[in-house]
Amino acid sequence: MDDMKQMLAGLIAAAMKEGFPEAAELPTEGEIAGFLEVPPERDMGDYAFPCFKLSRTLRKAPPVIAQTLAVIIDAPETCTARTLGGYLNFDFNRGSFAEATIAKVLAAEDRYGASTKGNGKTICIDYSSINIAKRFHIGHLSTTMIGHSLKRIYDHLGYTTIGINHLGDWGTQFGKLVSAYRRWGSQAEVEKDGVEALTRLYVKFHEEAEKEEKSTGTHTLEDEGRAYFKAIEDGEPEALSLFNWFKEVTLRDCDRVYQLLDVKFDSYAGEAFYNDKMGRVLEELKAKHLLTISEGASIVDLSDADMPPCLILKKDGATLYATRDIAAALYRADTYHFDKCLYVVAYQQDLHFRQWFKVVEKMGYPWAKDLVHVAFGMISYEGQTLSTRKGHVVYLEDLLRRAQEKALAIIEEKSPGLTNKEEVARQVGIGAVIYTDLQNNRIKDIDFWWDRALNFDGETGPYVQYTHARCCSVLRKAEEQQAPDIAPDYTALTDDDAQALLRSISRFPEAIADAADKNEPSMVTRAVTDVAKTYNKFYYEHRILDEDAGVREARLRLTRAALSVLKTGLYLIGMEAPERM
Ligand code: ARG
Repeated sequence: MDDMKQMLAGLIAAAMKEGFPEAAELPTEGEIAGFLEVPPERDMGDYAFPCFKLSRTLRKAPPVIAQTLAVIIDAPETCTARTLGGYLNFDFNRGSFAEATIAKVLAAEDRYGASTKGNGKTICIDYSSINIAKRFHIGHLSTTMIGHSLKRIYDHLGYTTIGINHLGDWGTQFGKLVSAYRRWGSQAEVEKDGVEALTRLYVKFHEEAEKEEKSTGTHTLEDEGRAYFKAIEDGEPEALSLFNWFKEVTLRDCDRVYQLLDVKFDSYAGEAFYNDKMGRVLEELKAKHLLTISEGASIVDLSDADMPPCLILKKDGATLYATRDIAAALYRADTYHFDKCLYVVAYQQDLHFRQWFKVVEKMGYPWAKDLVHVAFGMISYEGQTLSTRKGHVVYLEDLLRRAQEKALAIIEEKSPGLTNKEEVARQVGIGAVIYTDLQNNRIKDIDFWWDRALNFDGETGPYVQYTHARCCSVLRKAEEQQAPDIAPDYTALTDDDAQALLRSISRFPEAIADAADKNEPSMVTRAVTDVAKTYNKFYYEHRILDEDAGVREARLRLTRAALSVLKTGLYLIGMEAPERM
């Protein structure tokens, strides 16, 4: 909660006690803070307290309550209270608000908005979770960046976070790949082209299998693929070592992307990791009488929850995606004792998660309620939906390289004198992609357009980064002019522009907390964008390096505070903050 709210809640609570001594029960400070609203119009003050929330308890009309409280509250140093119908509206004492807000930011350094709320609590975050032998494409951007940002946000709030890349490294397709490699592949080719070569092999396998089926009606290839998959599962050395090599090749490819995005994981335990942990799931399900046989397959009936059954074992005894997720959840609960386990996965998998979450609940695990599917929408590229089948694929590595090239071209034009252009182009190009991904509520579909992402004006990554660089530039200039250590005159920050910026800064910690509550990084994106916008307005309307030393010092401090918040905000959504652009 922001400090000003807390302070007002304290004043209101005290005034209530004094004004209504006969009242049986009064709301707590926390409840009062929850009632405080930001009024719809700026000239209605900074916060409003809706007194009708108390009229039932106090048996009085809201305007009467407002009037009583307004008369009692007397704290000119921090705020003034006035009535507006049934509301009690507050205007901060602008000078002290400025002083308090700036002091708080500057003291916190890069920990502004941090808290100890999460101390002693662990959050598992399952994100990115790529599939082996597939190239990283932009369909995997959101899971990667939302997960990464949530990890930073929870870290900031004091939680212990475990980042898990639940690799898709199990399934018959890997047997097919071994078969294709043994028939048509070469080590040199795979070493050279990486996952690209694996994909070609996989495609060839399917073409050949189809041909075989058409010409002879037989399925020797498919059978061979299945046999190789069994060999992998049984740990037959040759098949297994080929498969492990494919995995290595894929991870090497993906690591280049992770490095560009600065994304890291604490665990790469994926689907195959649970091969030897399936028995426990089956035994428990049996012992708890949850398993039924249907057409030879083992299922958990979920008709009482209005869902189709959760498939646990296929007819041939093979486990499924859901079985592995259940095993993984049991393992994570035992290993990490999580307070929450988040799954950052596209909304298309909604039913899958609801189903197996229900199974875990039926198994009687109280932590079933702590499993959260953090769903997100689809991404399309310049108006085109992506489909591997139709060949509309955009590889993430290509996208990020292009973003850097495009950013470089813009920087060459805008700031030809910049010394580290390549480095800045990397920060800006990649930042633009990340910002686009985390700009709106995660459930909304995203359409990625270069012109939009790389626009330096408007709500974009480059715009926020540019504002940060602007703050740096103002402070560099100030330093060149070497002002003596002077006391800031905070009355210079009482105008509407400075106050709008200060309000935006003071609400930032709440945005971080809300982002964690809702697992919604876009709340941080919006908050940091608002700080950038209000700073720019302030910058255009006021001379920061004013002749008056006190005024100048106050405006510089506000600039320093804005800079700090911009940097922290960008960091929390996974972006870098260049000092010059
Ligand atoms: N590999 C899966 C996919 O790309 C996502 C896995 C998500 N995590 C999980 N525990 N199911 O669709």
